[in-house]
Amino acid sequence: MSSLRNVVMPLLVILFITTSVDGALLDAPKDVVVRITNALQNNVNLTVHCKSGDDDLGMQTLRINENFEFNFQTSIFGTTLFFCGFKWSNEFRWFDIFTDKRDDCSSCYWTIIELGPCLYGIDGLCYQWNKH
Ligand SMILES: *[C@@H]1O[C@H](CO)[C@@H](O)[C@H](O)[C@H]1NC(C)=O
Repeated sequence: MSSLRNVVMPLLVILFITTSVDGALLDAPKDVVVRITNALQNNVNLTVHCKSGDDDLGMQTLRINENFEFNFQTSIFGTTLFFCGFKWSNEFRWFDIFTDKRDDCSSCYWTIIELGPCLYGIDGLCYQWNKH
């Protein structure tokens, strides 16, 4: 028993030192809710398809002012990424709806307008669509 501890402890110490030296201490996981609301003009439906490396959240059709919500825990490695395709009329756009680096929010409420997604309403933080 004590020999197992003799092996595990030094390994933990080495792991801790290597991650600290990197300046990349592991992040505490955080619970996040992402909500996406259709605020397009002319009453058009918005089709949203969100994914991460592990999850496909399926296609959601939102009428005007309707929203779609999902939640997850961020990764301790700071690599959480959810991206979505947005389709309306003859338009198709992509957006990284959550990345650890950019987003501090835990209630990340996005309002979708033609120009791009806005965090905290259209007077909040508005972003451009992904380039591709
Ligand atoms: C929007 O989607 C709903 C179903 O979710 C459908 O009944 C309605 O006809 C659609 N409206 C338009 C304008 O396409």
